[in-house]
Amino acid sequence: MEKFIIKGGRRLQGEVEISGAKNAVAAIIPAVVLSDEPCILENIPNISDVSISLRILYEMGADVKFLDKTTVRIDATGITEPVVPYEMAKQMRSSYYFLGTLLGKFRRARVSMPGGCYLGDRPIDQHLKAFTTLGATCVLDHGMIDIQTEEILGSQIYFDVVTVGGTINTMLAAVKATGMTVIENAAKEPHIVDLANFLNSMGADIMGAGTDVIKIRGVKNLKGTAYAIIPDQIEAGTFMVAAAATRGDVLIKNVIPKHLESITAKLEKIGVNVEEFDDSVRITVDGPFVKTSIKTMPHPGFPTDMQPQISTLLCLAEGASIVTEGIFDNRFRYVDELRRMGADISVDGKVAVVEGIGSFMGAPVMATDLRAGAALVIAGLAAKGVTEIGDIHHIERGYEDMEGKLRALGADICKKSAPGDSIRQAAL
Ligand code: EPZ
Repeated sequence: MEKFIIKGGRRLQGEVEISGAKNAVAAIIPAVVLSDEPCILENIPNISDVSISLRILYEMGADVKFLDKTTVRIDATGITEPVVPYEMAKQMRSSYYFLGTLLGKFRRARVSMPGGCYLGDRPIDQHLKAFTTLGATCVLDHGMIDIQTEEILGSQIYFDVVTVGGTINTMLAAVKATGMTVIENAAKEPHIVDLANFLNSMGADIMGAGTDVIKIRGVKNLKGTAYAIIPDQIEAGTFMVAAAATRGDVLIKNVIPKHLESITAKLEKIGVNVEEFDDSVRITVDGPFVKTSIKTMPHPGFPTDMQPQISTLLCLAEGASIVTEGIFDNRFRYVDELRRMGADISVDGKVAVVEGIGSFMGAPVMATDLRAGAALVIAGLAAKGVTEIGDIHHIERGYEDMEGKLRALGADICKKSAPGDSIRQAAL
C-alpha cells in the first residue's frame, strides 16, 4: 500500500500548473468510439482513471498511442465487440460512459454495473430511463448491463434529478440517433460543455450544453478530430484551498477563472484573497479565516467535489460553519479521519457543523475516496507535526503527481511504498 508522509507547517509558495480535467476526459475518451476516424486528444492528465479508460479501449481492439506526455492518438475503428470486460469496468465509475457510446455506435452494449467512490447511494436509474426512452431495452444480467435496440430514436428526456453522468451518457447515445433528442433538467458542469464541444468538433450537432436544455440533432457519421481537454476546475480549487490553508502565496496556472467562480466567491467570504488573471489565479491570505456556510449544488453552485476540501479549511476559521451536502447521501466519511487530526465536526445526515480549532495535529489517517484524500493532504500541510495518509491510490485516480506539484511549492511531502507498515494499520 502506498502512502503520503507530510511534515506540516510550511507555507506553499510559487507557481503550479493545473492538468486536464478528470471528469471531462472520463467522458471524452469513451466518446472517441463514436468516430469513424482516429482522434487526437491533448492536455490529457496523467491519472489512473485515464490509464483504465485507455486500457479498456485497447482491450476492445482500439489502437492507442501516446504522441507525448499529454497527447494521445486513438483509433477506435478496430472495435467490433461492444463489451467492456468486468475486471476493467469495476475499477471506476466512469466506465459506464461506455454504455452510452457503444449504444450510440453499435446500437448495443454490455458493461458492468459501475464502481468508483462510495458517496452513498449512486443509482443509475436516470441513465437507464434515458436509454429506454431512446428505444433501447436494458437488462441487468449477473452484474452486467445489457442494452440494445434496432434504432435509436431521437426523444424528449426529462431528468428527475440533475445528473452529470446521466446527461453525458444520453449525449453519447443520442448523437447518432434518428431525429432530435431534447434533454431537460440537464447538468451544466464545464465537462458537459467540453464533451459537447468535442462531439461537435467531430461533426455532431449539439446545442445548449451548459444550460438545462440540451438539443441533439442526430447525424449519420462522425469524423476524426484533434481536441484539447479543459483544465480541471476541481484540481484548481484543491490547490486554491491548500494555498489558503497554509497561508501561502501561490499562482495557480492553466485555469479558466469562470469555472472557479463559486469556489472563488466562497474563499473570498472565508477571508482568502483571490487575484484573477486571464488563465491563472493568485491566492494569498492576510487576516483570520471567517466562519462561512456552504451548500453544494449542481453547477454553477458550489461543487460537491470541493466539499471535503473547503470543510477542512473551515476547521481553521474562527467560529462554527455549516456545510450542507446537497448532492450525495454520504459524503462526510472523511470527517472521522479529520477528527484524528483534531477536527471538531458534528455530522447529522447531509449537514455538518464545523467548529474552528485553530490548527490540526499530524496523525496517521486513511483516504476513503478521491476528494476525502485531497482534504487530508490539505489538513496535513497545515498541521503541526507529521501526517501519514494511507490508500493514496484514491488520490492518484484524479490528481496528477500531487506530491511533485506540492513539493515544488515548498511542501515537505513524500510517497512511501511499504506494505502494511502504517502505524494505523498496526494499531487496528
Ligand atoms: C459525476 O458523478 C462525477 N464523476 C463526480 O465526481 C461528481 O461528484 C458528480 O458528477 C456531481 O458533480 C465523474 O464525472 C466521473 P451525478 P455522477 O449523476 O455522474 C443521483 C469526483 O470526485 N443520481 O451527477 O455519478 C446521485 O445518486 C467524482 O471527481 C440518481 O439518483 O454524479 C447523486 O445523488 C465523485 N440517479 C446525484 O444524482 C441517476 O441515474 C448526482 O449524481 C444518476 C444520479
